Amino acid sequence: MKKYAIAGTGNRGLYMYGKPLVSKYTDVAELVGLYDINTKRAKVFAEKLGRQIPVFEDFNDLLDVAKPDTIIVTTQDAFHHEYIIKSLQKGCDVITEKPMTTDEFKCNEILKTERETGKKVTVTFNCRFMPFLLEIKKLMMQDIIGDITAVHFEWLLDQVHGADYFRRWHSIKECSGGLQIHKATHHFDIINWLIDDEPRIVNAFGSLRYYGSNNPFKGKFCFNCEHKESCKFYIDKMKDDFFKEFYYNNMDMDGYAPNFCVYRKEINIEDTLSVNVRYSKGAVMSYTLTAYSPYEGYKINISGTKGRLEIENYAGKYLPEPFKQVRHFDEQHNMTIIEIEEGRGSHGGGDSVLLDVLFNEITQDPYNQQAGSRAGAMSAGIGIAVNNSMKEEKQIKIKDILWELEVN
Ligand SMILES: NC(=O)c1ccc[n+]([C@@H]2O[C@H](COP(=O)([O-])OP(=O)(O)OC[C@H]3O[C@@H](n4cnc5c(N)ncnc54)[C@H](O)[C@@H]3O)[C@@H](O)[C@H]2O)c1
Repeated sequence: MKKYAIAGTGNRGLYMYGKPLVSKYTDVAELVGLYDINTKRAKVFAEKLGRQIPVFEDFNDLLDVAKPDTIIVTTQDAFHHEYIIKSLQKGCDVITEKPMTTDEFKCNEILKTERETGKKVTVTFNCRFMPFLLEIKKLMMQDIIGDITAVHFEWLLDQVHGADYFRRWHSIKECSGGLQIHKATHHFDIINWLIDDEPRIVNAFGSLRYYGSNNPFKGKFCFNCEHKESCKFYIDKMKDDFFKEFYYNNMDMDGYAPNFCVYRKEINIEDTLSVNVRYSKGAVMSYTLTAYSPYEGYKINISGTKGRLEIENYAGKYLPEPFKQVRHFDEQHNMTIIEIEEGRGSHGGGDSVLLDVLFNEITQDPYNQQAGSRAGAMSAGIGIAVNNSMKEEKQIKIKDILWELEVN
C-alpha cells in the first residue's frame, strides 16, 4: 500500500486525485495528509472526502509526520517547485500537475534535485492519455507521413472557457507563467510527444488585446460589481456551492476567489500568442493561441516527407455542432478521412486512464505516455522561452534555459 499526500487542495486536487484516492484506489493507495497555504480550504477539502485525513499547517510537518511515499502537487503553477523540491529532498517521489514549473530557475532546480536525490518526478500530461490523441500517436508511430518537416497548430479558447482564465489566478503571470505556460504546456507537450522530438529554438510575440484594460469599465469581483447589468462577462458565482464552500467562504485567509473581473488592470498575461519553434530533427512549428474566440478547439496540421495529417476538433457553446475530422494525405495526394472516437469522461477521457497508470503503478508504456521531468521541462521550456523571447525581443535557445539537461 503506497502512501500519498496532496499539496494544493483546490479543484484539481479534489476531483482528479483526492476523491479517486479515497474511493477507487483504496486497495493500492492511502491518502495520509493534506497541505494548502489556505488551511481553511484544506479543511473543507478533507470534509468533502468524508475521511479523517490530517490537514497540516506546515508542509515540513506533513513530510515528517505523515511520511508519504509520494507527494501529489496541485498548487498554483508557480509554487509547484517548492513542494517538488522539498519532497524529493525528504526522499519522496513526486507526481506533479502540469506545468512542471514556470521559469528556468525553478525548472533547473527541480532537475538538479531530482538527479541528486535519485527520486522520481512524474508530470501528469493527461492529454497523452486521451484516447483520441492516442490514436493520432499510433498513426504517427506507423510513420504514415515520413520525416516531420512542419507543424501548424492553432488553439482557440472561446469566450466562456477563455474568459475563465482571466477570472482566476491564471491571469497573473507570477502565479501561472501566462497561458504560454499554464495552458500551452499541454499543447507543446502534445507536439513534442506526437512528433517524438524536442524543441531547440523559440521565437514569440504576444499581447493582451481583449481582456484586462481593453474595456472602458472594470470592477474587482463579479459578485460585488456595479456593472453587473451591462457587462457581458458578468457571472453569478454565488449560485455555485463549490465556489462558495471552497473559495468565497475562505477569502479571509488569502483574498482569493475565482470570480475576478476579466477587465481588471492587474491582469498581466497575454490573450493572443504567436510562437515559432525549431525542433532538434529539423521540423518547424508555428503555434497560435487566441483566448476570446467565437468557438473552442484546435487545428493541428503535420507535414512530412511522405504526406500530411490534418486534425480538426472544435466544440463549444457558440458552435451549432461539434466538428471533428482527421485527414491523411499520402504521397500521391490521396485523402483518407480517419474515423476516431472521442474518449468519454473528463479531459477527453484522459484523466481516468492516467489515474489507473499512476496508482496501479503500470510500467508498460508502449506509446511513451508516461512523462518525467525531461518532458515536463521541454514543454514548460517552450513556454518559458516564449516569455523570455517576448521580453528580450530575440530567439531563445532551449539549451540556454535548461542548463541542467544535456541538450544538443
Ligand atoms: N491537467 C489538467 O488538465 C489540469 C486541469 C486543471 C488544473 N490543473 C493544474 O492543477 C493545479 C491546481 O489547479 P486548480 O484548478 O485546482 O486551482 P485552484 O485554485 O482550485 O487550487 C489551487 C490551490 O493551490 C493553493 N495554493 C496557492 N498557492 C499555494 C502555495 N504557495 N502553497 C500551497 N498551496 C498553494 C490554493 O490555496 C488552492 O487551494 C494547477 O497547477 C493547474 O495547472 C491541471
